[in-house]
Amino acid sequence: MQKDQKLTRIKRLQSNCPEMEISIEKSVLESHGCDWTRFRTPDAAAVVFPRTVDEVAKLVSVAMEHRIPLVPSGGRTGLSGGAVAPAAEVVVSFDRMRRILDFNAVDRTLTVEPGVVTQSVQEYASQHNLYYPVSFASEGSSQVGGNIATNAGGIRVLRYGLTRDQVVGLKVVDGRGTLIECNSGLVKNASGYDLRHLFIGSEGTLGLIVEATLRLVDPPEPSRVMLLAVSGLEGMMTVFRQFNDALKLTAFEFLSSAAMSYVRAGHDLPAPMNTEAAYYALLEFDCADSRLEDQALQCFERCLEDGSVLDGVISQSDAQALDLWRYREGISEAITKYTPYKNDLSVRISAIPDYLRDLDELAKSRYPQYEVLWYGHFGDGNLHMNILKPADMPVDEFEKTCAKVNPDIFELTRAHNGSISAEHGIGLLKQDYLSYTRSDADIERMRGIKAVFDPMNIMNPGKLLG
Ligand code: MLT
Ligand code: ZN
Repeated sequence: MQKDQKLTRIKRLQSNCPEMEISIEKSVLESHGCDWTRFRTPDAAAVVFPRTVDEVAKLVSVAMEHRIPLVPSGGRTGLSGGAVAPAAEVVVSFDRMRRILDFNAVDRTLTVEPGVVTQSVQEYASQHNLYYPVSFASEGSSQVGGNIATNAGGIRVLRYGLTRDQVVGLKVVDGRGTLIECNSGLVKNASGYDLRHLFIGSEGTLGLIVEATLRLVDPPEPSRVMLLAVSGLEGMMTVFRQFNDALKLTAFEFLSSAAMSYVRAGHDLPAPMNTEAAYYALLEFDCADSRLEDQALQCFERCLEDGSVLDGVISQSDAQALDLWRYREGISEAITKYTPYKNDLSVRISAIPDYLRDLDELAKSRYPQYEVLWYGHFGDGNLHMNILKPADMPVDEFEKTCAKVNPDIFELTRAHNGSISAEHGIGLLKQDYLSYTRSDADIERMRGIKAVFDPMNIMNPGKLLG
């Protein structure tokens, strides 16, 4: 059945959109039919590569007429299956829409096509003595359209906010094939519902992002990075408060000792200091002069005295800062070969110690057979729980046994007023659990919104709302 379906879809596309590049090559279907999620098998019918907004609009009209499901595809670095095409869908790649369209030095905005890579935006901004603050380990391949569709977070959210906070203009082709223009780069716009924010984080279920105008900010102050060995979770909160009250933090990340072992092994990194600890904190803070450095060292001394910090190192150059960042940014890549089962969770910052303690206890009692690593963005309340697959265990069996504990994890998350997804999205992997974070009434409202923009359910069907 799927085979016939695929052939029909391919023929319809070829006859209705003859000008568009369409690939049905096995390698392209496989590479573009999935993201970094390891738990779903891609089975796309075709991958299309539109070059213009008009081509996207035409494609969606044809898809709507013939009920062809579309899966948007950016840099495919997602971790919840949002860009996986498991059921003969047509993947819409933005690899041919990679132009920077406009830079406005007065407004400090950059207008780009959706396929522009995050790092290119950062580089363009810095060439113009400005800064694009969204940053994460996969920024070298993730694309702006995907960042917006998932409201990507990363390591500097505590200072600059999420992708949502940088988008001042958006063009989207919705599931009716209509081009919708949102906010035109305005700073202020009090003219009713801000549709832009509906599309941001909608995981491609309402429409395809075809252009974005991004806000750029002042370049950051010179900064320092510290890596601290921390006694425990209460200690981590003490350290956070000390440094957050005294300095201007741009990042406050954490990793467990197991995460430290794996990142060191994976990237052949030396021990960052002589002391080993249960957790490590990685902080980045503005440090333009020696007065601020003294303040940081005073905080460090106080933390040593109260026992929250056991040891630490501070960068003396930008190169050393980057080296220290590798202990945190390199974790995800270092553990990929263990097919980690990921849970991306959030609570209010103040709730982290209690929540993480409860979660860790749960993990120890329910996953005694697995190794569980913790790391994440402590400074914005986002914890990444990663369970490593034993080498000899089939992926299906591993996923099933890991998922069995999800209801308890999410019940705990609900009890701490948290969210079952902080920055990775719901995608294919978490839709069964949405009700742990969103009420039935909310989910109904979301379905209503989807029906407005995508009445035929062709926009990334099966994702987010199921
Ligand atoms: C990270 O913070 O490293 C990313 O969200 C990726 C991951 O969770 O593995
Ligand atoms: Zn993260």
